[in-house]
Amino acid sequence: MQYRLTIDVFAIRDETAAAGKALAEQRNFSRCKVAVREGGLQRAITHYADHPSPNLIIVEDDGDNDTLQGRLDGLAQVVEPGRKLIVVGAVNDISVYRRIVSLGVTDYLVSPLRLEAMMDAIERAAHDPKGPERCRYIAVMGARGGVGSSTVAQNLAWAAAKKIGMRTILADLDLTFGTGGLAFNQDPRQPFGEAFADPDRLDATLLERYMVNDDENLQILSTSGNLRHYDGIDEEAVEKAIDLCRQMTKLVIVDVPHTWSGWVEGVMIGADEAVLVVSPDIANIRDARNLLDFLNSKRGDNRPCKLIINKSDLARRTRLLPKDISNTLGVQPIANIPFDPAAFIEAANDGKMIGERFKSHKTVGVFTDLAMKLGARGSTKGAKPDKKFSLPGLFRKPQAKTA
Ligand SMILES: Nc1ncnc2c1ncn2[C@@H]1O[C@H](COP(=O)(O)OP(=O)(O)O)[C@@H](O)[C@H]1O
Ligand SMILES: [Mg+2]
Repeated sequence: MQYRLTIDVFAIRDETAAAGKALAEQRNFSRCKVAVREGGLQRAITHYADHPSPNLIIVEDDGDNDTLQGRLDGLAQVVEPGRKLIVVGAVNDISVYRRIVSLGVTDYLVSPLRLEAMMDAIERAAHDPKGPERCRYIAVMGARGGVGSSTVAQNLAWAAAKKIGMRTILADLDLTFGTGGLAFNQDPRQPFGEAFADPDRLDATLLERYMVNDDENLQILSTSGNLRHYDGIDEEAVEKAIDLCRQMTKLVIVDVPHTWSGWVEGVMIGADEAVLVVSPDIANIRDARNLLDFLNSKRGDNRPCKLIINKSDLARRTRLLPKDISNTLGVQPIANIPFDPAAFIEAANDGKMIGERFKSHKTVGVFTDLAMKLGARGSTKGAKPDKKFSLPGLFRKPQAKTA
């Protein structure tokens, strides 16, 4: 899988530094931002006194167990809570390993650290079930315009937030014509597109100014509709906005407009789940085929795009059935949503989601099921890292900085 982490390596030995430098060239880590510095744990302590903390820190230390613990305490004073820490030490002793890990450190490895061992440890850390829960990130895009991908993204966000109880941000990246606000009868105070005017200034506080709260579980980034030009939006700015959202909530659903550019590609490749919505006609099949071939080759074998057939019975008379679409594309859809203009258009005109407007409509269950299939889980309230696992006694002093 492709990791998207910020990683700082503080090396002492040449081998550790070389492994850190080679990391970003490896396929699964090419989207990570890796910085390698010399000076080991001691240097990390001075560094984080005035620098933001990355997602993962790898520090090497050549002291014995006692000095190591003292220095880890020093590091804990300056690093934000919830960050993962891998320690590389000189002592090869299982009791030292246990002691360090019991302090809340994610992993302890023995010097010299080689690339393979570093990659394995990062993968273990990224999947560590005891670590702070990662925010899930779902991108939804239509194979063609008008297929209902925004409708799916909005109803998914609603189901995750209201039916499953997961804190959710719906980020509508159709910066000009987006309906993320309108669909919930909300009027975004400032258009989301303006957040990209000066990407260097973008931070959590600024991003919050563009959000409207539908309720405590659902926040929306969208536009109230305007014809401003948002040219030249770059992939990094979009990635940064999404990363900031991910630090603020538990689920981010990105409504990706039907356009094709570097940042659209980046979003569809980087998302935990990339969902392609098609409706039954020949042009949809052609474009879905192209998109699936391209995106699946970039996302890797373990992370294929998911397919949703919307308005699935629209072409019954022309005999283009859902099974014909899935056979042609070679993918089983995770949902078939029937064509029901009366319900969808009435709900949209009322500024409500289907499940809000028609309490027992058959698609309510479809959207809740879909949200579950895409990883929405109800037990996850609150965006703060799980205290129990956020390095008690170590990373105890929160700083108002983020990487
Ligand atoms: N299953 C459906 N049945 C009937 N109408 C639908 C369905 N899904 C979406 N629509 C309608 O289709 C239109 C286009 O939907 P939208 O979500 O804006 O498409 P996209 O974002 O793919 O361009 C809207 O009027 C919406 O209400
Ligand atoms: Mg749309």
